[in-house]
Amino acid sequence: MVNKKYKLAIVGATGLVGRTALKVLEEKDLPIYEYVFFASSRSAGKEISFKGKNYIVRELTETSFDEGFDFAIFSAGSDTSKKFSPIAASKGCIVVDNSSAFRMISTVPLVVPEVNSEEIFKNNGIIANPNCSTIQAVVALKPLDDKYNIKRVVYSTYQAVSGAGQKGVNDLENGIKGLPNTKFPYAIFNNCLPHIDIFLDNGYTKEEEKMINETRKILNKPNLKVTATTVRVPVMNCHSESINIEFEKDFNIDDLILTLKNAPGIIVQDDVSNNIYPIATSANGHDEVFVGRIRRDFSVQSGVNIWVVADNIRKGAASNAIQIVECLINSKA
Ligand code: A2P
Repeated sequence: MVNKKYKLAIVGATGLVGRTALKVLEEKDLPIYEYVFFASSRSAGKEISFKGKNYIVRELTETSFDEGFDFAIFSAGSDTSKKFSPIAASKGCIVVDNSSAFRMISTVPLVVPEVNSEEIFKNNGIIANPNCSTIQAVVALKPLDDKYNIKRVVYSTYQAVSGAGQKGVNDLENGIKGLPNTKFPYAIFNNCLPHIDIFLDNGYTKEEEKMINETRKILNKPNLKVTATTVRVPVMNCHSESINIEFEKDFNIDDLILTLKNAPGIIVQDDVSNNIYPIATSANGHDEVFVGRIRRDFSVQSGVNIWVVADNIRKGAASNAIQIVECLINSKA
């Protein structure tokens, strides 16, 4: 059997998600014969050390994909994705795009491999990686939906500054030193800001709208009742989420906990008598989604509250994208 090897581009290799993607790739042994790292003209010529070799960062241009690539992971913002992903796809490269540019286009798969990996193979050259807060939520929702049929979801998020890229991290680091903020509208140090992305005419933020729409698309439940309040908190990395879920079917709480324990990509940490529950500093650096505080919502016929924590830069972005590439590679092997 011929062991096929592939060529992979990382676009936005100097950013927070791009650098984490390199770290995740270093931990794996994928059949990639050539890696190429792209960023803006600001970073062109910089050196990146990867798997024991030095690589020169290249400027992304309209001809970057002419040389032929199998896969590209884009983490360079929506504008860059809108302009360059279609060019890459037109040259035969399959793009896994971390931005929100293509997520809600009906012909573009929006994929979390634990939930809907079958969608990957319906791609037309671009596969969208969901929003970080949506990814960790649907990993926990999917097994519960399969078993108890979810009727309504209420999200309340506590999102780390790393979700806003390097500038978000800088704002918290500077705030701790008493320096002014430049990324967020107010100091993030010592504050919780109920404001992620822009405000829409209906009073929601775009982040809240993304969670609502992306959840419906990934779970393939276009009429699911979902609402969300997304909050930026002074945590460096890892998003935490309180999720209230109402089901069509009744459940037994022990069965529900077992269902979560047996689901792919989930680690249940739920032993309140010993103060065991998911926290950001424990989830940091991991690819699993941690679930705890699992308890019946006594205010409705069939409902549960769960607390879900994950590394938003790894599972919420870089690792999910690399998992998608691995699914593609395995399907071709
Ligand atoms: P650069 O370092 O050259 O600015 P973050 O989300 O952490 O801010 O990272 C954003 C990433 O996207 C960086 O790698 C950044 O590169 C890259 N980027 C931003 N604009 C462009 C562009 N026009 N073309 C290619 N890469 C870009």
